[in-house]
Amino acid sequence: MPDSLTAKRKLSHIQTTLKQDVQSHVPTGFDDVRLLHKALPEIDRDEVDLSTEIFGHRMNAPLIIESMTGGTPMAAKLNSTLAKVAQKLEIGMGVGSQRAAIEDNKLAYTYRVARDAAPSIPLFANLGCPQLSREDAVDRAKRAVDMIRADGLFIHLNALQESVQYEGETGFSKMLQRLSDLVRELSVPVLIKETGAGISSETSREAEAAGVKGINVSGLGGTSWSAVEYYRAREKHHPVQIELGKTFWDWGIPTVASIVEVANSTHLKVFASGGVRNGLHIAKAIALGAHYGGLALPMLKSAATGERTALARLKVVVEELRNALFLTGSRNLQELRKAPLVISGSSYLWLTQRGFDPARYATRRKS
Ligand SMILES: Cc1cc2nc3c(=O)[nH]c(=O)nc-3n(C[C@H](O)[C@H](O)[C@H](O)COP(=O)(O)O)c2cc1C
Repeated sequence: MPDSLTAKRKLSHIQTTLKQDVQSHVPTGFDDVRLLHKALPEIDRDEVDLSTEIFGHRMNAPLIIESMTGGTPMAAKLNSTLAKVAQKLEIGMGVGSQRAAIEDNKLAYTYRVARDAAPSIPLFANLGCPQLSREDAVDRAKRAVDMIRADGLFIHLNALQESVQYEGETGFSKMLQRLSDLVRELSVPVLIKETGAGISSETSREAEAAGVKGINVSGLGGTSWSAVEYYRAREKHHPVQIELGKTFWDWGIPTVASIVEVANSTHLKVFASGGVRNGLHIAKAIALGAHYGGLALPMLKSAATGERTALARLKVVVEELRNALFLTGSRNLQELRKAPLVISGSSYLWLTQRGFDPARYATRRKS
């Protein structure tokens, strides 16, 4: 595909997600999860410590701004704004797929601005899974990492989106072998991330065996990439893709189910994303076994308004998370990971049918 088309598609993705309702109709499952309230927390709210680390880098809170953008001047501005916010809060961030800049080096600045604005945060490079089938995949991955002095590389898994997109690349055979080859060649951790359809226990085990160091579940319940491609297909009058986009709008594994599936099947770092909209969602995700939580679309929307809006939004997320720790009597994230919780509704049904025992979260004790 000519270089300019990759960049143009990136721009149309930003515009579509900002303008249209691209939310899944299926819930994440966070409303099915209730952390057990501790009426006598026996701690002071001020002593709650949200700090953590990722691959040796300290973070003030277990929070990342999800991989989203790059490749256009508008994306450069958004990346710079988001990175400034991440640096101020000392949290992590991912840039969007770097394919556009790999194909046209003139666009590298649209990603590099993130590292320039945030010299000391954990920053993640990003490439799509279909890129792994190229002969020069390892070289491209190294260039993506070097471009932003990344601390890790997310390989995004977007079979759903590619299968609904008119110009989608759907060659997904032998990806596990390619992932494992990449892991061997890169000097930074390789991670996988979905893009809104979740990751199962089975896939997470296969990815762990291939050597990846982390999994971002990006489950169903937030931005639907089938929805994004539906709107693009409507604009371009692609009748088959319009129907595919509608039919697969709500395809995937809801975020809560995916967190439990992955956290109980691997020893990897687990990132919770896909419909994460506040700090209480992140607290629930961590109590279910995740290590970090990430927001994508809400951050794109607030960054489009400006740095102050984006910073204010994330400050609230941090305070919500702190409150959840206080009200469960958790001094830190290790204690939150053992906080009792009750799972009901469709998440309960999903987990029991898939062989997980929701009751064990309800009866666990902190010490
Ligand atoms: C405009 C936009 C662009 C995105 N581009 C990428 C990308 O290039 N690489 C990637 O791994 N994920 C990408 N994503 C997916 C997000 O990282 C995230 O997994 C997904 O949107 C679900 O999170 P949300 O519900 O908070 O939006 C993008 C999301 C948005 C909204």
